[in-house]
Amino acid sequence: MQVVSIISTKGGVGKTTTAANLGGFIADAGLRVLLLDLDVQPTLSSYFMLSVRAPGGIYEMLAFNERRIEQLVSRTAIVGLDLVLSNDDRGELSTLLLHAPDGRLRLRHLLPTFRTHYDLLLIDTQGARSVLLEMAVLASDLALSPVTPEILAARELRRGTLQLIEDIAPYRHLGIEPPPLRLLINRVHPVSSNARMVQQALRQVFQEQAGVQVLDTDVPAIEAYPRAATRGLPVHRVEYRQPAGRTAPAALETMRTLAGELFPAWRERFALVTGRPVVRTSGGHLKFTKPGCTSIYTSATASDHRADRNARAQLRRADRQAQEIGHG
Ligand SMILES: Nc1ncnc2c1ncn2[C@@H]1O[C@H](COP(=O)(O)OP(=O)(O)OP(=O)(O)O)[C@@H](O)[C@H]1O
Ligand SMILES: [Mg+2]
Repeated sequence: MQVVSIISTKGGVGKTTTAANLGGFIADAGLRVLLLDLDVQPTLSSYFMLSVRAPGGIYEMLAFNERRIEQLVSRTAIVGLDLVLSNDDRGELSTLLLHAPDGRLRLRHLLPTFRTHYDLLLIDTQGARSVLLEMAVLASDLALSPVTPEILAARELRRGTLQLIEDIAPYRHLGIEPPPLRLLINRVHPVSSNARMVQQALRQVFQEQAGVQVLDTDVPAIEAYPRAATRGLPVHRVEYRQPAGRTAPAALETMRTLAGELFPAWRERFALVTGRPVVRTSGGHLKFTKPGCTSIYTSATASDHRADRNARAQLRRADRQAQEIGHG
C-alpha cells in the first residue's frame, strides 16, 4: 500500500479536489483506494455519495486507536473507493494528539491495519499547520502539494509547507525520513502570462532543492472540476472528451497523466480508464455502462488485465455500432 498525503498550509488550493479526483480515477483503474479525510471541515467526506456508512470515522480511529475496518471504513458509490469519514466535529483531535506522547506517530502506527486491504491510501488534510498535518506527513511515502500559479501562493508554500517538512526532519533520529514533496501546479489559466511566469519561477526555484520536485503535469483551471464536485463524480467521468475549441486537454487525460507521473508502476492500468462507470455485479462481474448503449459484462475481476482490455475493445465496438446506427 502506498501512502500519499495531500498537503498545503494554504487554503483553497485544490487539496480536496485532487484527493477526490485522483482517488476516483485510480479506483476506476481497478485499484483499491482508501481516502482518509483529516480535515475538520468534512469536504472530502461529502464529495461522493456513500453506499455504506460506517459507524465511526477518523475520531474513533485516532482518539481510541480503533482498528476494526468495518467500524471505520465507509464505502462510496464509486467501486473500489472507500473512505474514513471526518467526524471530529468539535475539533478535539488536534489537542488530543498534541498532548499524547505518540501523537504525531499515531497514524503511522495504525497503517498496518489497512495495508493488505488497499493499494493506495490518500490523505486529505486541512489548509493550515496543525499536529494532524504533521502526523499525516510522517505517515506518508509521498507528500503532494497543489499550488496555484500566483506569487502569494508560491511564497506561502515556502513559508508554510516547506517549513513543515523541515520541522519534522528530526524524526530521522527515529528512522523516519520525511517523504519527498511533489508540487502540482493547479488552476492554470490558459491565457494568463503571469501564471506562466510563476510556473517557470516555481520550477526554477525548486530545481536544486533536494526532496522537492515540480510535477510535469499541471492542472488547467476548468469548470469541469466544480461541475464534477456538484455531481459527486470524479472529474474524469464528467469530462472524458476535450471540448471543441479548447486547448486544455480533457480532464480524463489530465488525471491519467497526473496519476501516471505519481505512480508509474500502474500506468498500464491507467491507460485503460475510459471515464465510463464500472460497476461490479453481485456475481463478481464487471459491468460497463454508457447511456444509449447496451451494457457490457465481463467475467473479469478488476485485477485481470486481459479481460479488462477485451471489455474496452467490446465497448469501442459498441460505440462504433451506435455511431453507425446514428448515421444510418
Ligand atoms: N483545476 C481547477 N479548475 C477549476 N476549479 C478548481 C480547480 N481545482 C479546484 N477548483 C475549485 O476550487 C475550489 C477549492 O478547491 P478545494 O476545495 O479542492 O481546495 P482545498 O485546498 O481542499 O481547500 P481547503 O484548504 O479549504 O480544504 C473548489 O470550488 C474547487 O472546485
Ligand atoms: Mg479541502
